[in-house]
Amino acid sequence: MGNTDLQGRSVIELGAGTGLLGIVATLLGAHVTLTDRETALEFLKSNVQANLPPDLQTRAAVKELTWGRNLGNFSPGKFDFILGADIIYLEDTFVDLLQTLEHLCSERTVILLSCRIRYERDQNFLEMLKGRFSVHEVYYDPSKDVRIFKAQRSVRKEEF
Ligand SMILES: C[S@@+](CC[C@H](N)C(=O)[O-])C[C@H]1O[C@@H](n2cnc3c(N)ncnc32)[C@H](O)[C@@H]1O
Repeated sequence: MGNTDLQGRSVIELGAGTGLLGIVATLLGAHVTLTDRETALEFLKSNVQANLPPDLQTRAAVKELTWGRNLGNFSPGKFDFILGADIIYLEDTFVDLLQTLEHLCSERTVILLSCRIRYERDQNFLEMLKGRFSVHEVYYDPSKDVRIFKAQRSVRKEEF
């Protein structure tokens, strides 16, 4: 996470899978909500329990968040950071993922998405993202062909 200071910050991870990213964010001092689909939660919970010392587990909550569904369970603007690792890959989910990002994001929220652009459709998602957010590539690892994109809510002219 480079020089991003996560101490005391509020973080949500989307599509957490094993939870590695959320676990590292917790170890770096953040309050983290690790989310995924219902079917992934049992494995995610057991990984969080096995890989965080007991005194840090109070800073890591595991919750269901299926993109585009029941977003009312998550307060808009609550999070300083929205993290996602390798979650841009299923075209059928792109609209729901974008809706989820828009719901969770306030003007102060920073979205960090890491991905490898494997197919044209992955690039299409980035174009969708650019339509709603201000997006910059902030990191590229050529050895793994993995990029990190930072997205923030665009300030519209009429908001000035
Ligand atoms: C390729 S895995 C990446 C997992 C983890 N972030 C990592 O980097 O190892 C994609 C993750 O997105 C989750 N996912 C896929 N579709 C989803 C959806 N509609 N809502 C929420 N999570 C979803 C999957 O369950 C899976 O954990």
